[in-house]
Amino acid sequence: MTTPPKTIHVSVAWPYANGDLHVGHLAGAYLPADIFARYHRLRGNRVLMVSGSDSHGTPIMVEANKRGMTPRDLFERYHRRFLETQKAIGISYDLFTHTDTVNHHRISQDFFRTLLARGYLRLEKQTLLYSELEQRFLPDRFIEGECYICGYKDARGDQCDNCGNLMDPMKLINPRSKENPQDRLVPRETEHYFLELDKFQEAIARYLDSHEGHWRPAVLNFSRNFLKDVRPRPITRDIDWGIPIPLEGWGEQKRMYVWFEAVIGYFSASVEWAKNQGTPDAWRDWWYNPDCQMYCFIGKDNIPFHTVIWQAELLGVDGLYALEGAPPITLPYDVPANEFMNIEGQQFSKSRNWAVWLPDILRRYQPDAIRYYVARSFPETSDSDFSWENFFNSVNAELLAAWGNLVNRVIGFAYKRFDGRVPTYDALTDADQALIARIESGFDSVGGLLERVRLRDALLEAMGLAREVNVYLDQRAPWKTIKTDEQDAARSIYTALRAIDNLKTLLAPFLPFSSQQVRAMLGYAGQLFGEQIITCYDEDGRTHDALIYDGSAAIGRWEASQLPQGQALREPTPLYVKLEDEMIATERARLGQPREEVEDGF
Ligand code: MF3
Ligand code: ZN
Repeated sequence: MTTPPKTIHVSVAWPYANGDLHVGHLAGAYLPADIFARYHRLRGNRVLMVSGSDSHGTPIMVEANKRGMTPRDLFERYHRRFLETQKAIGISYDLFTHTDTVNHHRISQDFFRTLLARGYLRLEKQTLLYSELEQRFLPDRFIEGECYICGYKDARGDQCDNCGNLMDPMKLINPRSKENPQDRLVPRETEHYFLELDKFQEAIARYLDSHEGHWRPAVLNFSRNFLKDVRPRPITRDIDWGIPIPLEGWGEQKRMYVWFEAVIGYFSASVEWAKNQGTPDAWRDWWYNPDCQMYCFIGKDNIPFHTVIWQAELLGVDGLYALEGAPPITLPYDVPANEFMNIEGQQFSKSRNWAVWLPDILRRYQPDAIRYYVARSFPETSDSDFSWENFFNSVNAELLAAWGNLVNRVIGFAYKRFDGRVPTYDALTDADQALIARIESGFDSVGGLLERVRLRDALLEAMGLAREVNVYLDQRAPWKTIKTDEQDAARSIYTALRAIDNLKTLLAPFLPFSSQQVRAMLGYAGQLFGEQIITCYDEDGRTHDALIYDGSAAIGRWEASQLPQGQALREPTPLYVKLEDEMIATERARLGQPREEVEDGF
């Protein structure tokens, strides 16, 4: 039975390009998005997965300042590293671009103009802290002072790290400049555009209600609370790094608030992708298509921007660039936000280097080993923990013991004892057929969990099926029967190979590299997935690097194996490296120590 292909948009949070990626990023958004996208590609659905480097905002400015670099030099350095890192761990974006492209600037400015023309932006006076020394308004993150809630001495202008509350910098006690504590900060009046979120309150409340059934309860509750007393929010800032406001007199002094334009990246990157593909209208299949299902993969700290503010922007510009008679613009169908992944029981901290950095871990461990452990520990319903001991145990006792050894043992045995071929058999026993049917049921059970974005459970379900093959083999014992009844060994080895062929498909969204290896060892040609390519685009005389996914050679399908008898196998090589326990202490000892950024090259 064939169902018509679905249209799926996978929107992935845009990382600030002010430092390397770490496992928190991977667990929060990128790996879930990738697993989901790969599954839908295997299903033959039309997937568009986009993201990019968030190159604006005070997080970039603060870090650039600290290092004496320009914001542009800083973000370009990390953008380049993001491409290499994500290629190495296999995050299969159709396009990973950045927010400093001509395309993104133009589209963000069109959003701004449209919202203004339709009366959704209001100019308002605001009193903010002005630095006499620097002759400018200081962004929240450049201000420190005493927390007016808990009394903590070093609260930041945007948030208190001690009590976690968001701060109003005007209320901080004894506010000072972070960079120049002697500087005098004076309240001064300025003007900003406010997005009138309250005008969308009812429409978004209805929108949230209509998704009640399939959203994660924590995401829905948070969003409803946020929406309850939503007020206009300023979407411009007194800074000089970011997207200029497309209005006379606003060019030099002010820029768009980073969150206002970063979410627009989901839209602009789709447009950029379509253009680069040579099909400049193709983006409309996702953005003006009532059948498109759009999923936003984000961490929990990004929820209100993706469940309320982004919806308001989209509702406010509905029809922008649309063709005559187009349906309404697409709003996210689901926002499966993940919680946080802590490290050895403590929260991630860049300043203390309490982190597991992806470029570092990728230099020492296989990408699928990392993917396996992170996915089986996804913080889907509550915070989870990355511990080196659990990483080693999961890889050795689960991935390697239940799956890697199964594959290597069975293919190795067939290769040696059946002339390098899939055995031929007379007829399968009931037990053989029952095992094949059981594993094939995974296409529904694992698939159903993947559809509902219960990715952790989907992986555990697939691994449970792998264990059933091990139990089956213990019972059928081909290593013994081959001595007395070669036909019987042929039946059970064929059955196990066929189960492995199915399992490698069920596991492929999670373990794309090793599933491809299994496919090749089983004697098939061709690629389950497409290729990830770092490329350079030229746009109005400016070039930028991007990561793209070329799916043209992909032939993987979410369907049951028809493994032919007699097919020539390839000599198996071990799927996974066993991890040596002595290394646990070495890895732990790196936490909290100064780190050196090694150049890429995995
Ligand atoms: N840069 C933000 C962060 O790292 C995420 C932005 S997601 C976007 O927290 F949608 F706004 F792009
Ligand atoms: Zn506080």
